[in-house]
Amino acid sequence: MTQDEQDRVEPRTREAYERVAGWYRDFIEEADNANNLAEVPAMRRLIGDVRGLRILDLGCGQGRYSIWCAQWGARVVGLELSERMVALGRAAAERARVTVDFRVGPASDLAHFPSASFDGVVSGMAVDYFDDLPAVAAQIHRVLRPGGWFVFSVCHPIRLAGERVETAEGPVRIVSRYFEKGVKEWRWMRDDHHELVPTWGYLRTVADYVDVLAEAGFLVERLWEPEPVPEARELYPGKYADLIAAPQFLLIRAIKPRCPQGGDGTPAWAAGGGQAAGESGAG
Ligand SMILES: C[S@@+](CC[C@H](N)C(=O)[O-])C[C@H]1O[C@@H](n2cnc3c(N)ncnc32)[C@H](O)[C@@H]1O
Repeated sequence: MTQDEQDRVEPRTREAYERVAGWYRDFIEEADNANNLAEVPAMRRLIGDVRGLRILDLGCGQGRYSIWCAQWGARVVGLELSERMVALGRAAAERARVTVDFRVGPASDLAHFPSASFDGVVSGMAVDYFDDLPAVAAQIHRVLRPGGWFVFSVCHPIRLAGERVETAEGPVRIVSRYFEKGVKEWRWMRDDHHELVPTWGYLRTVADYVDVLAEAGFLVERLWEPEPVPEARELYPGKYADLIAAPQFLLIRAIKPRCPQGGDGTPAWAAGGGQAAGESGAG
């Protein structure tokens, strides 16, 4: 392995998800997991009506969002690093009686998709792992048609920057290294023998995500830090207390403008170089 490959998270993520795939499939089915109480309902609202749309799901895993979009009438390509996750996705799509074009491959290489070939790109809880996010954002922008959207969720940056402390008033989060950059190791998923498996993800601030999108030419339409669904308060009071203490997820919906934007957000047609209003090229 070269130094460059060692520094990248992608090969380690592939290996980790090959190991945790079975555990992860069971985890996402748990009604009281934080994703199901806050992230999934918010993502579905941000994705919206997908009938007849062409959707690319990056880091699709076992197809949570791919299958949901297909059930609502979209034509979906699911791209995923881990072969085992894809196998679980294919089985889940078959059970749900929908068609999803699952492919094994990295989000870092979208070259095989033609420009403007998707109406929407979705990515649930995977962008945290992406190496060289500006390059991936530029590729997402290219494969979207003008007016298309990119909706994704990540672990909220303040969750990654601190630690959870129990107090008499309930759980509290101490945020201490918010601006720290680099790669952080987490251990919360398990393999088939219930051993903890390490994964690595990038520390980025909320502004980092917005900056990356703006620099790729996107307009941020919505930024959402979802609270738990109200019914969680009675059903799962412990989880509710934790999720209401501080946001666990950050969701963004960004649009590829129909008219290309300059780096400062100025539409290209207004950014100079063209003719001023009233000027005529004739004569
Ligand atoms: C936390 S899981 C989320 C799976 C699914 N999107 C969901 O919402 O349940 C993250 C997934 O992203 C995949 N992933 C991470 N980095 C990736 C990359 N660079 N290219 C493709 N898939 C990636 C992992 O293999 C894993 O299946």
